[in-house]
Amino acid sequence: MRHATFLPSMLAPDERTQTYIKQGRGVELTLGDGRTVIDGGSLSSCIVGHAHPKVVAAVQEAAEKGSIGDGTGWDPREQAAENLLRIAFKDEDWAKGVALFISASEAADLGLLLAQTLTGREPFVSRERGYHGAVGLGRSVSFNKLWKPKLVAGENGSEVLPPEPATIRRLPVPECGHGTPATYDPDHRCIESCLRDAPKLLEGAAAVIMDSTQGSVSPSPAYHDALAEAAREAGALWIADETVTAFGRFGHWFSFQRGEQRPDLVQLGKGITGGAAPGGALVLSEQVLEQIGDRRWTTSSTFRGHPVTVAAISATLRVVEEEGLVERSAELGLELAREADAIASRHPCVLRVVGGSGLLRQFQLDVPEWRTEAKWEGGLKVDSLPELVHREGVERGAYIGIFSGQTVWVIPPLIISRDQLAHVLEALDESLAVADRALEGGRL
Ligand SMILES: Cc1ncc(COP(=O)(O)O)c(C=O)c1O
Repeated sequence: MRHATFLPSMLAPDERTQTYIKQGRGVELTLGDGRTVIDGGSLSSCIVGHAHPKVVAAVQEAAEKGSIGDGTGWDPREQAAENLLRIAFKDEDWAKGVALFISASEAADLGLLLAQTLTGREPFVSRERGYHGAVGLGRSVSFNKLWKPKLVAGENGSEVLPPEPATIRRLPVPECGHGTPATYDPDHRCIESCLRDAPKLLEGAAAVIMDSTQGSVSPSPAYHDALAEAAREAGALWIADETVTAFGRFGHWFSFQRGEQRPDLVQLGKGITGGAAPGGALVLSEQVLEQIGDRRWTTSSTFRGHPVTVAAISATLRVVEEEGLVERSAELGLELAREADAIASRHPCVLRVVGGSGLLRQFQLDVPEWRTEAKWEGGLKVDSLPELVHREGVERGAYIGIFSGQTVWVIPPLIISRDQLAHVLEALDESLAVADRALEGGRL
């Protein structure tokens, strides 16, 4: 047996991904072979573009200060928490506490543990195809098995999964989660349809956790509101997973701002550091802080609130605010929505476009057997249709995101220009035409 040194995420030890990147600058990526492509979705965290000069300068300065751990005082750490509330949560006066973590996965685990501790309850409620983290309870509440830690045999896809440490109650795939606000059924009432069983599932639950992007669904603001109300009624906490959507992805600092209800805990990661350093956070409501009272929340980890991380958080917040990137995402998002619908209508290989507002669209492709939930349960090999679109996109100078076996994502840095976005969409359009022909010719 071959013993590989590096064990890549999602692959067998001797497998390697097809696209190598040498460096990113702004919205451009230089590939391993020297070609340059526009970044239409290599990394959802990269909201301010690659190597933003202000973020790089802040990170460099922090790195020069030495190593300062979680157990010692470090002013910029407290300032980053304050900046987060002052800038991103400026209209949200219920948000009062910030805990910093190494990743969104860690934030999910600690948030869920806190919910159990505060409520004295054990079960959680989560939706089908959602994803919240790779470790601990975040792993357990993720029904999107594609990303779950497991061993998968390449040949037949047989899987070995470890046991779950918690009881997770499953909400069905939201019926309102397909299409754009323009195509939502105006008569659809979540609480009477996709959330019919929610009140029962929430009985005795510690928390419900919700995200807005994973699994080719994007639940409507009405869905979030209805579920939040049902959770409150049942005495369960609402954890809003804003890992992909903060800051600004949906044209708001946070996706919950599209609705009326407000969460108890907000899970953050990815974009809060602009992709320049690993980092996660939990924002706690005043009510949760009151429940904690004057007790200590004793949990620690060496690299939490690392100088480089907090420098990246503060710099990213400033750049998003100064460059008006939230507003920009809302504005360009309207164009993206229009174009995405037009592109989808031209291609039989596209089953649907998913996304609410802002600079994000998922194209769910007609991957054979897509209707079976088993497809969402993952497997080692992704289907070839999104891979084909990705490959063709690169040939045409655009990096199209590929984060599952069913969908391709347009999720560019929020600094993308109109022309660059048009280039990505043109490349996507042409690449989907190649996928159409491949489907027609039965070559998949
Ligand atoms: C919605 C959502 N929540 C949480 C996570 C976990 O983030 P991380 O892998 O950075 O810990 C992800 C990662 O893809 C995500 O998409």
